[in-house]
Amino acid sequence: MTLWRSSAETGPGDAMLDFTSSLEQDRRLYPYDIRGSIAWAEALERLGVYESAELQQVVETLNDIKAELDAGELELDPELEDIHMNIEAELSKRLPELGSRLHTGRSRNDQVLVDVKLYLQDCSVELENGLLSLLKALLEKAGGEAGTPLPGATHLQPAQPVSLSHYLLAFFEKFRRDYQRLQKNKDELSVLPLGSGALAGSGFKIDRQFLAEQLGFERLSRNSLDTVSERDFMLDYLHFLTLLGLHASRLAEDWIIWSTPAFDFCRLDDKFTTGSSIMPQKKNPDALELIRGRSSRLLAAYQGLASLLKAQPLAYNRDLQEDKLHLFRALDAVSWFSLLPEMISTTTFNREKMASATEMNFLAATDLADYLVERGLPFRRAHNVVRELVEKARRQDKKLSQLELSEYQSAASEFEQDVYDFIDPVACMKRRDVYGGTAPRRVQEALDEAGGWLQEVNNND
Ligand code: ARG
Repeated sequence: MTLWRSSAETGPGDAMLDFTSSLEQDRRLYPYDIRGSIAWAEALERLGVYESAELQQVVETLNDIKAELDAGELELDPELEDIHMNIEAELSKRLPELGSRLHTGRSRNDQVLVDVKLYLQDCSVELENGLLSLLKALLEKAGGEAGTPLPGATHLQPAQPVSLSHYLLAFFEKFRRDYQRLQKNKDELSVLPLGSGALAGSGFKIDRQFLAEQLGFERLSRNSLDTVSERDFMLDYLHFLTLLGLHASRLAEDWIIWSTPAFDFCRLDDKFTTGSSIMPQKKNPDALELIRGRSSRLLAAYQGLASLLKAQPLAYNRDLQEDKLHLFRALDAVSWFSLLPEMISTTTFNREKMASATEMNFLAATDLADYLVERGLPFRRAHNVVRELVEKARRQDKKLSQLELSEYQSAASEFEQDVYDFIDPVACMKRRDVYGGTAPRRVQEALDEAGGWLQEVNNND
């Protein structure tokens, strides 16, 4: 059943209706569709399409429909193509004359966009709060650890000592950028599409500025053809979600590795691990693994929408109905979001293990070379000297600090007793005393900056 008669003589058959339906995807838009329709009805009243008493009836009935849908008391009709037609049909069932005037000057092409934007505005509130909790959890964890050494890695091989704070703040920066990307997305979501009609603009002199004010939009879209054909705001949103997921996935990956007995740098709270049905000793990091796994859904969603848009002639094409499938899948894929802050704050770090791993694995080698450079050796020669010293220590199963001074001196006469202090992990960190480096005082500055920023953001919220 359709609300209108098509120009084709027979009309679509059941299989066709079934195939072309988007109700399964767009049913979640109903509260926004109703909000959009109320604003539209108000704009129509200003044009004289409704008397003010009629408008009141329309608004009340739309609100009733919403309440019934909220309570799960109203069945949607799967034979109607989408949520927009379901709501319009329901209104027309209750108010046949008034309901049938509601779609005056409107197209589902602009209607669906206003619904999605309103929906994303709501999702953004939740995501923004989630991001703020995540940033807070990271910052709290990072506080007081500016002098705690951790074996920093490149290629997953031990590289140079960094502090635990510096590491946690690295993720703070990634998620801070996500927060900022969300703000840009919110700006795009404040552009009103309604009034663009099917493609050429509404045929009635609808007051778009009024619509924007009623619905809380800040600006009007500038070109109706662009408006009904573009999904850039969705793709941008998916980009934001994808990066958010990738960042969480990288954190998850590190902590999965760190929580293995071989590393034992951190321990996840039992709340976020599971046992094995066969191996009694297991404590598996399933939650982190699923965060990592979910990021593939996000990447797939981004690619799905991007490829959907690639070759569409202007303006609206039915392909666009598939947009919501990708968007909603991605939004559903970040349901870990509410868990991650607590996962972070309940994870404990094993400082002894991290410190001994920092000493065991020659992480001071670069500093040893720098020591020689400070005493006049060209860096390349110093690099060769230290490579040999590392080989020697490795063969004897010793740390660099366990090599004798005589062994140092036979490698290069510049070595003196003070070399042992020089290669202490904290001393190595202290020397990374550039803006953005891991020197404890720089990290303390970074902690203060991050704290100040977070406070300001929270205050402005
Ligand atoms: N169900 C459609 C969608 O989600 C609504 C718009 C239909 N527009 C059209 N011209 N057939 O995109």
